[in-house]
Amino acid sequence: MHSAWLVVLTFCATVLAQSGSIEDYINSEAPISKANLLANIGPNGSRSSGAKAGLVIASPSTSDPDYLFTWTRDSALVFKSLIDQYTLSEDTSSSLRSSIDDYVAAQTVLQQLTNPSGTVSTGGLGEPKFNINLTTFTDGWGRPQRDGPGLRAIALITYANWLIDNSNASYVTNTLWPVIKLDLDYTAKYWNQSGFDLWEEVSSRSFFTTAAQHRSLRQGVTLASKIGQTSVISEYTTQANNLLCFLQSYWNPTDNYVTSNTGGGRSGKDANSVLASIHSFDASAGCDARTFQPCSDKALANHKVYVDAFRTIYSINNATADNKAVATGRYPEDVYYDGQPWYLATAAAAEQLYNALTVWTAQESLEVTSTSLAFFCQFSSSVQTGTYAASSSTFTTLTTAIKAYADGFILVNAKYTPADGSLAEQFHKDDGHPLSAKHLTWSYPATLTAFAARKGVVPAGWGAKDLAVPSVCESNLGPQVTMSFNLIASTVKNEKISIVGSIDALSNWSPDDAHTLKSSPYLLNYSIWNINLKIPASTRFEYKFIRKVNGTLTAWESDPNRSYETPAKGIKVLVQNWR
Ligand code: NOJ
Ligand code: NOJ
Repeated sequence: MHSAWLVVLTFCATVLAQSGSIEDYINSEAPISKANLLANIGPNGSRSSGAKAGLVIASPSTSDPDYLFTWTRDSALVFKSLIDQYTLSEDTSSSLRSSIDDYVAAQTVLQQLTNPSGTVSTGGLGEPKFNINLTTFTDGWGRPQRDGPGLRAIALITYANWLIDNSNASYVTNTLWPVIKLDLDYTAKYWNQSGFDLWEEVSSRSFFTTAAQHRSLRQGVTLASKIGQTSVISEYTTQANNLLCFLQSYWNPTDNYVTSNTGGGRSGKDANSVLASIHSFDASAGCDARTFQPCSDKALANHKVYVDAFRTIYSINNATADNKAVATGRYPEDVYYDGQPWYLATAAAAEQLYNALTVWTAQESLEVTSTSLAFFCQFSSSVQTGTYAASSSTFTTLTTAIKAYADGFILVNAKYTPADGSLAEQFHKDDGHPLSAKHLTWSYPATLTAFAARKGVVPAGWGAKDLAVPSVCESNLGPQVTMSFNLIASTVKNEKISIVGSIDALSNWSPDDAHTLKSSPYLLNYSIWNINLKIPASTRFEYKFIRKVNGTLTAWESDPNRSYETPAKGIKVLVQNWR
C-alpha cells in the first residue's frame, strides 16, 4: 500500500510538471525575460546598478557570487540577441536602437583600456571582464579569454550589415569598422594560442572559442569587401581557413562527441559544444557538419552524449525516461556551486533542436547517418540510416518526437522558474530551487533565442555554406621543438611501438591515432624504436609508449605517465627503456 502511494505521487508530480502548456510558459516568460534583460543594461536599466551606458552587468548580485561586472562574452551574446531582434524587425523601438549604439560606444572605450591581458595592441582585447564604470578590473582572474573579441565582432557585423542595407554605410565605415577591425585583428593574430574557456576555468583550446573566432573572421571578410577594406581580406581568409581546419580536430570519432577543451582533464562533454552549435547556426549551410550546424550528424550525436551526461548526476532528473528531456548543466564534472543545472544550458539543448527542425522542414528531408543514428534511435527504435523525405512517415515520426523532446527542455526550465519569471544562473539538482547569481543576464537571451528558434526565426547567415576544409591544415602552431623519442624494447613479429600523450601532437591519449615508431632488423634486431616529432615549445606534457600487434592495442607502459617539458627551442633526444 505504502509503495503504491509512492508510485502514484511520483506519477502525479511528473504529470503536473509537464502539464503546463509550453505556449503558456512562453507567453508569460517571453515578456518577462525581455524586461529583465533590459533591466540589466546601463544606464537606465532598473537593476543595472549604475553601470555606464551600453554596459551589460552579468547579474545584479554583489555577493555569493559577485557578478556586478561586465563580461565581454556575456555582453556580446546579449547584444547579438538584441541586434537580431532589431534587424529582424521584432523590436524596432528607438530605445533599443539607442541602446545598441550605447553598446558600440562603450565597447569602443573598453577596447582601449590597458589591462592585465595587455594593451589594445598587445593582447588586451582578451581581457574577460571590466568594472561597470568602464575601468579595468585588476584582480586575479582566468585570463585571457579569446572568445570575447570574436563574439563582439559577430554582434557588431550583424548590425553593420543591416545598416549598410538601410543606407547608413558611412556609420559602418567610420564608427563600427575600427572597432570590428581591432577584434578581428586580435582574433587573426592570437587564435592559435591557448586561453581560458568560456567557463573561465581551463586554459587550453576550446571548441566554443574556435567556432566563434572562425565565424567572426568569415563575416569580417564579407563585410570588409562590402565596404572596400580589402587590405585585411587575405590575412582573415588565411586564418579563417586555419580555424576551420582546427575546428575539425575536436571531434572524437570513437565516442561520437566534441571534446570541448584540449586541456583540463575532463570528459569534454560540455554545453560549450551545444552553445557553439547554436551560435554557428546558418540555415543556408543546411546540415553541414564542418561548421557543426545544429542538424548536422556530428552536432546531433554530440547533443545526445551531452544530455546523457546529466541524466544520473542530478536527482531532479532521476524519474525521467532515457529519451526524455532533462535539466543540463555546463559539464558533468562541474563543482562550481557544487555542480548544478543551468537555465542557459538547458535552453541551448532545446534551441539546437528547434534550429534543426527549421532546416529539415525547409529542405523537406532529414538524413540519418551512422554518426547520428544513436540520436535518432531515441525517438524510434527501428530507424535506420538513410534520407527521409518530408512526405515519409519516418520524417513525421522523428520530427514530431524531436519537437516534443525539444519542448521538454523548455518545460524543465519552466518547472524550475519561480512565479515571478526571474531566471538565476543555476537551479538546484535536488529540488530545482534557483541558485547562484540571481537575474543572470545571459539566462534571458538564452531563453528568448530558444523561444524564437521554436517559432522558426532564422537569424542572418554568416557564410557557412560550402566552406572547404583545407586538405592539409597549415601548421601555425607557434614555436616548435623537435623531440626525438627513442625506446629500447624487444618486440615480437607484427608488434610495433607507438607513442600517445596529453597534447595534440601526441594524439591526446587516443591510442587509435597514436604515432607509430620505426625500427629495423639492423637496430639490434628491432629493439630500438624511434620517432621524431614536432612538439610546441615550452610545453609540459605526459605520455606513454604502447604496444600494438597488427594494429591492435596490446599493452600500455606501467604507471605513472612519463612527463616532459619542452625547452623554448632546439632539438631534444630522449632514450628510454620500456616500462
Ligand atoms: C568564476 C567563474 O565565472 C566560473 O565560471 C567558475 O566556475 C568559477 N569562478 C570557479 O572557477
Ligand atoms: C560564469 C560563467 O561561467 C561565465 O561564462 C560567465 O561569463 C560569467 N559567469 C559571468 O556571467
